[in-house]
Amino acid sequence: MNRETDLRSQRKDEHVRHALDQKAAVVDSDFNHVHFVHQSIPSFNLDEVDLSTCIGPLKLSQPLYINAMTGGSEWTRTINSKLAEVASATGIPMAVGSMHAALKHPELENSFTVVRDRNPKGLVFANVGADVSLDGAKRAIELIQADALQIHINAPQELIMPEGDRNFRSWLENIENIVRHAGIPVIIKEVGFGMSWETLQTLKDSGVRYVDVSGKGGTNFASIENARREHKDMDYLKNWGLSTAISLLEAEPFVSDMSILASGGIKTPLDAMKCLALGAKAVGMSRTMLEQVEYNGIEAAIEYISQFHHQMCKIAIMINARTIEEITQRPIVLSPEILSWQKQRALHSQRSR
Ligand SMILES: Cc1cc2nc3c(=O)[nH]c(=O)nc-3n(C[C@H](O)[C@H](O)[C@H](O)COP(=O)(O)O)c2cc1C
Repeated sequence: MNRETDLRSQRKDEHVRHALDQKAAVVDSDFNHVHFVHQSIPSFNLDEVDLSTCIGPLKLSQPLYINAMTGGSEWTRTINSKLAEVASATGIPMAVGSMHAALKHPELENSFTVVRDRNPKGLVFANVGADVSLDGAKRAIELIQADALQIHINAPQELIMPEGDRNFRSWLENIENIVRHAGIPVIIKEVGFGMSWETLQTLKDSGVRYVDVSGKGGTNFASIENARREHKDMDYLKNWGLSTAISLLEAEPFVSDMSILASGGIKTPLDAMKCLALGAKAVGMSRTMLEQVEYNGIEAAIEYISQFHHQMCKIAIMINARTIEEITQRPIVLSPEILSWQKQRALHSQRSR
């Protein structure tokens, strides 16, 4: 390994270590400000609840996926391998972490390809940054025979990261070009800072049809990158961004034109159900899954996903909804804080509350 490869692998490992250390959420996810309205007389049985969903042409038997994290070092190869086994056993999609390491250093490819080796028939998402070329994106897709490509947009992370990118002018053009020529669904995703109406409108105008708002409230890259700075002098930005709940309110006007996915601080089946109620087609978890496979093991992680889905179905009964479509039609009540956000931002929901 040369020095540059070494530094990349080291950075990847540092991200995993810092993320695992973030046991308690650094900031609020705002899910406590969204309330379902309890319904006392369910009109169907638990085994009739069907939370299957679609991300464009991709069919998911349950609305969950393992979101982008790792690859690019020996440790993260073993993590990817374990996550892929969990994805294979549960049938949920899995995204790999940023593949730039493999694009630049072929000796790191196996830390990503292991995911396809372990899960030959499953849905796998490739992941690149918005500075990647079309050729780079196509190579990433080819390496793991990806079913979808995630492009992460992470400006605050890059800016707080001591060695991060400072050039962003090419991002939108690259995204447009890749969306047009990738040949598979391209999901533009944040990394825990959420997305605003303006961002979503810009993406929509650029032809983007799949978005993961990945909001604030879970893994906090402002804190992680600050901890990697010599003087730890940017801690004041740890609250930067939009929570996942607020991002979904910002995204509500787009739900008929774009497939909106939710991630960022999803801790309970109730959080996940609230995301579906706010228009998300599926819900992703990163840190929680990392913790499961690293601390509890593959079998426990499989059981965790199975219970998570089962409990989502139970909550569906409590709001008398049999499908995701019906969940979006059930009433929800917002706390004054986020109702005020919605009003000040003049966000027009298409649902009746
Ligand atoms: C250790 C770690 C590494 C990550 N690396 C990537 C990455 O390479 N690409 C990406 O799009 N997102 C990456 N993320 C962000 C997640 O995909 C997700 O957007 C964010 O962690 C919020 O979800 P969570 O609160 O469930 O962790 C990473 C997250 C973690 C915890």
